[in-house]
Formats: sequence, structure tokens, C-alpha cells
Amino acid sequence: MEISENESILLFFLFEKGPDSTIPEENALNSGLSAEEIRSASSWLKIKGLIDIIEEKETRYELGEEGFLYLEDQFPEERLISLLRERKEIPVNEIASIFREPSNRIALAQAAKLGFPPMNGKLAWDDSKGSKALKEIEERREILEKIKDGTLQRGTGDKILDHLLKRGNVIVKKQISRKIFQIREPGKEYVKSNPSRQTIGEISPEILLSGSWRDKALRKYDLNLHGKHVERVGRHPLDYLIREIRSIFLEMGFTEMVGNYVESTGWNMDSLFIPQDHPARDMQDTFYLSSKNRPEFSEEEIKLFRKFGRIQTNGLAGYKGYGGKWNLEESKKLVLRTHTTPNTIRYLARHKNEECGFFSVDKVFRHESVDWKHLAEFHQIEGAVQSRQTSLATLKWFLKYFYERLGFRDIRLVPSYYPYTEPSMDVVVRINGKDVELGGSGIFRPEVLKPLGIKYPVMAWGLGLERLALTYYGLEDLRQLYESDIEWLRNFKVRI
Ligand code: PHE
Repeated sequence: MEISENESILLFFLFEKGPDSTIPEENALNSGLSAEEIRSASSWLKIKGLIDIIEEKETRYELGEEGFLYLEDQFPEERLISLLRERKEIPVNEIASIFREPSNRIALAQAAKLGFPPMNGKLAWDDSKGSKALKEIEERREILEKIKDGTLQRGTGDKILDHLLKRGNVIVKKQISRKIFQIREPGKEYVKSNPSRQTIGEISPEILLSGSWRDKALRKYDLNLHGKHVERVGRHPLDYLIREIRSIFLEMGFTEMVGNYVESTGWNMDSLFIPQDHPARDMQDTFYLSSKNRPEFSEEEIKLFRKFGRIQTNGLAGYKGYGGKWNLEESKKLVLRTHTTPNTIRYLARHKNEECGFFSVDKVFRHESVDWKHLAEFHQIEGAVQSRQTSLATLKWFLKYFYERLGFRDIRLVPSYYPYTEPSMDVVVRINGKDVELGGSGIFRPEVLKPLGIKYPVMAWGLGLERLALTYYGLEDLRQLYESDIEWLRNFKVRI
């Protein structure tokens, strides 16, 4: 019979505790196994017939809320009877003013049972009944104390215990089941015939280096067990495409940039010359976060945003601004980024006037109604080149080259508009007989670059990944890419 390392630890532990004794589950924690491991190992040992697991039900009493109060203070009947001893007589209608609800009712009812029922509208003291009653109350208190200390033995004071159990929330009765382990004959045989205490289930570098494997048994595998047939699933087509795109950029010497899904409108819009009170803010349907949290802008960021604000309103020398008002609080609003272009601006701010190319393939969010060519969450292939050499011609060359590397020979570049680039171009391809826009691009306007202190021209683009994938894989509908249909994925052949 083969048993696992944990099973063997547990079995030997039980054997050493005394082959014939019974050991509660919680004591097995001393074996060094966790409760979870003990549970699993013990049930396997039971299945293999090596141990018995006996389930025992145990009744435990705990103090209820009232019980705690009575123990801290007094039983209501105790207060009433003690008071009665002092005053000899108490009118019933006075009791309500001495005790609060519901203690007054409890005190009255209990006192009546202890020999002090109301008569002629009052309670009257009686020496012989009084001492008996107070003695009984004392016994009630003792039971509560024992429950609190966990020293209550069954059989002692059963009558009083029953009485207290009937009284609402004084004592709570709990049924607890505990497991007890006992080794069976085959278990003992196993321990005796396996001199090495543990079997090794998994060989680790530590076991090999320390040589501890020498005096332990190695667990054997049961080769007769039938394994499950698992079919291979390849890389997800989108993931495959992202890797392709990444390698195109990396081969060209680009650096990959990263950013956050949640972005301030300051970076998502202000930094891109999209003014605060301009309809251009709605060009992309934006998910605003309802959170009251606002980002902490650094001193430097605040200075930069004020520059963006001034330019939004007043423009630059030779360039007219939008007019209107700008305010810093507005730029602290948080959105799910609607494009990855803020990452580009953040990157430029950190690498001013360095000749460099950088990119990302990352997720963006827009409040779109979803259809075959629209998703509310999709990826943009973002990037930019900052260089003395940059021009519209370089941009056109780059876009053609990029799409050609992916097998697109017939993209069209058409004039377009973005608030932050001039000139701007869109990439258009024909999909399913219709023109589909794959993305935007352009040369950043001075209104964007000047506040950052950038002198070199910068060309930039933001291209849709999923729409590209649609044509790349010859699919009909963007939603196919996110259906998580294992069968579809299994049969999907990536074109290379
Ligand atoms: N950010 C634009 C979009 O979301 C694309 C773009 C990026 C356009 C860079 C010009 C320059 O569609």
C-alpha cells in the first residue's frame, strides 16, 4: 500500500501516541501538520483502512448575553429579593420604577417561583423562604461561573442548569462534533513493517543536497491509475497578435511604456489640448469614476497643468486658444482612460528632447454600445517617435511599414482631426466590404509639446488592436475574440 508523506506523518504520529489509544483531531496538530492537511490525510487513511475516525457529539454550554450580565451584576430576582429583605414590603407597581424593562417582569416572575408571589398588590418578606431563595440564587450563580470557566461537569446541578436553559438568553447550548482517530490493525502493521518513518512524495533540491532521502522511503506511483486526457489549447489569438506587434516595435528599437487604467482628466485630456469646456471632451464617450477620491498631483504636475490651462484659454504666440475658463479641480476628476495617448505624454515629459521611439499595446475604455466593430473595452497600439527627423512623410512611411509587417498591403491614410495633432491622419482598411477605421495618428501640436519643453517634432499614433485582429484572422465580429469559447479556441489556427 502506498501512502503519501502527510498520511505517513499522521499515521506514525498516532502510532507513537499509543497504538491503542484514541486521539482527538485537534491533538494531531502536534504532528506538525496543519488542520487542513490533517483533515485530508486522515480521510485518506480511513479510505485505505488504516485508521478509524470516530465522530463524537458533545454538548457545550456557553454564557448568553443575559448570563454575562447576571454574572457581572446580579440576577434580577436576586436584586428584588435582597431589596425586599431590607424593606420587608414592596408594592408591585413600584417595581416597574426600580427595574427597567424587561428586568422588572423577570424579577417578579422569578421571585414568585422562589416563594414570593405578589399578594394584595405587594410583595412581603418571609425569613424562612428568603434564605432558601437566596441560597438557590447563589447556586444559579455558581453554575454560570462554572460555564464561564469551562469547568462545568455534566451531572452536577442538572436541575438548576435546566432552569437556566429555559430562561431566554442566559445560557446557550451548543452541539459540537469532534473527530477522534484510532489506528486499526492494518495501520499498526504498516508502521511496524515500514521502518522509515516518512515516505518522500516529492523530491526537492533540499532533500537531494542534505542526503535525507537515504533513510526515507520514496513514494511509489500507481501506474495503473487512468489519467485524464487533456487537449492542448494554444495561445489566444489576441495574445499571439500582441506578441507579434510587440516584436515589430522591439526590433525597430522602440521602448515599451506602461500606464494606469484609471487616469486623471488632467492627463487624459488637458495634457492633450482638449479644453475643459469644449465639446471635444465628449468626442470619446468617457467613463467617469464616481469616486470622491482625487489624485494628489505633485508640485511639478500642478505647474505643468497650469501651463496646459493657460494655453487652453489663451493659446500660444501665433496660435489662438479656445478661450473659456480652466480650473485645476476639474483636471483632478478620474476616468477610465479613453485612450493610451496620456501614457505617451507622460513618457515625453520624462524624456524631453531625447531622440526615441516608444509604444504600448494596452487596454482603453469607452462608453460604446457594443456591436461587431465596437467594444467598450479594447486595446490600442499606441506609440510615438521624438526625433529631429520626424515629419508627416516619416509617419506615413512608418504606418505603411507597420501594417505591411502584419500582412496589410492596402491600407489607406485619410486626413482626419484630433485636438492634439496637426496634421492628423486615420488608417482605413476595407473589412467585409466596408471601410473600417483602424486608428488615428498625427504630429503633435505645439500646444501639446511647448508646455513640456519639447523642441523636436513628435509623431504619434493610436491604433485599434481588435479591429486589426478582425482582418488579421478573417473574423466577422469583434465579440468573437472575447467569448472564451474553448472549442473555438481549440480549433483556431493562427495564421503565420
Ligand atoms: N488617441 C487617439 C484615439 O483615441 C488616436 C491618436 C493617437 C491620434 C495619437 C493621434 C495621435 O483614437
